[in-house]
Amino acid sequence: MAADGAVLVVGGDGLVGTAVARRLEGDGVAVVRTSRRGTPGTVPLDLAASPESWTVPRGLRGAVLAAAVTSTQQCRDHAVETHRVNVDATVELARRLSSGGTRVVLLSTNMVFDGTVAATPADAPRSPMTAYGRMKAEAEEAILATCLEAVVLRLTKVLPSTLPLIASWRDAWTRGEPVRPFSDLMLAPVSPAHAAEAIAAVTLASHPDRIVQCSATADVSYADVARRLAAAWGHGTSLVEPVSVAASGVVLEHVPRHTTLAAGTLQAVFGIETPDPWVAVDAVALAEHGVR
Ligand SMILES: NC(=O)c1ccc[n+]([C@@H]2O[C@H](COP(=O)([O-])OP(=O)(O)OC[C@H]3O[C@@H](n4cnc5c(N)ncnc54)[C@H](OP(=O)(O)O)[C@@H]3O)[C@@H](O)[C@H]2O)c1
Repeated sequence: MAADGAVLVVGGDGLVGTAVARRLEGDGVAVVRTSRRGTPGTVPLDLAASPESWTVPRGLRGAVLAAAVTSTQQCRDHAVETHRVNVDATVELARRLSSGGTRVVLLSTNMVFDGTVAATPADAPRSPMTAYGRMKAEAEEAILATCLEAVVLRLTKVLPSTLPLIASWRDAWTRGEPVRPFSDLMLAPVSPAHAAEAIAAVTLASHPDRIVQCSATADVSYADVARRLAAAWGHGTSLVEPVSVAASGVVLEHVPRHTTLAAGTLQAVFGIETPDPWVAVDAVALAEHGVR
């Protein structure tokens, strides 16, 4: 299959894959999306299936690897199957694309770090504390070592208006019931549109940095986010009852102190400013009111 000059978005029906494909098309770039769900207009590609079954288009301008098992719980509880998708198959696909002359952009995460340092620099040693983070760190290392010109783009939390947690808060507030978000679980949220702008820029332009990071300027807690949304939607912040992870009884693999990444390259090389964390939260608040 020839796809001259197009960008391949692997996982083109996921949250970030959808946003980046739309952004690229909005910029006039042809996009080929892959899906394992048979979504109309996509090329079928299941990373859990044998690599012989994959159709890898030729003549691509670039490829964004946005397919992964992203649930930390699934990665912890099904380590063998998820390692096959998030590491073995992802690295195999990157090598195949790269050997055909396609520049690969692997989407990764702040969770390759332990979060002891705020605004972690791109070249800090990897220190993952979760199964998901370890898989991403392994995939990063293998792809950077073996794929010429491949780039790793690390993202902090991408906050969509459709996040099920936020929908559950909104439903509770509508019923006049309180929610109990974590007071000590942090996120440095960026909007899907911001993440897509960064990914598109990194995919289309050649540049010397092999690791680029996309982050908000600061961390906020899930409780901070809930208070901001409750206020924006006209509910009293008394309907937000913050709770610590420890007091909640929920067992998480790791609770990082910081999730921010140093994102100076995006600004210096691509002119993309690092957003305040409230930009993404306020976009969610507005989307609820039909403003997108
Ligand atoms: N969202 C964030 O906050 C965030 C933050 C940091 C990094 N990232 C990274 O950004 C990338 C995209 O994340 P996302 O939030 O868009 O995740 P997502 O919404 O869960 O989408 C993941 C995509 O991967 C696909 N996928 C899963 N297993 C697959 C398999 N075996 N074969 C082929 N495709 C498979 C999914 O298909 P199905 O829908 O059929 O399952 C979906 O299209 C991931 O690499 C993630 O690690 C995301």
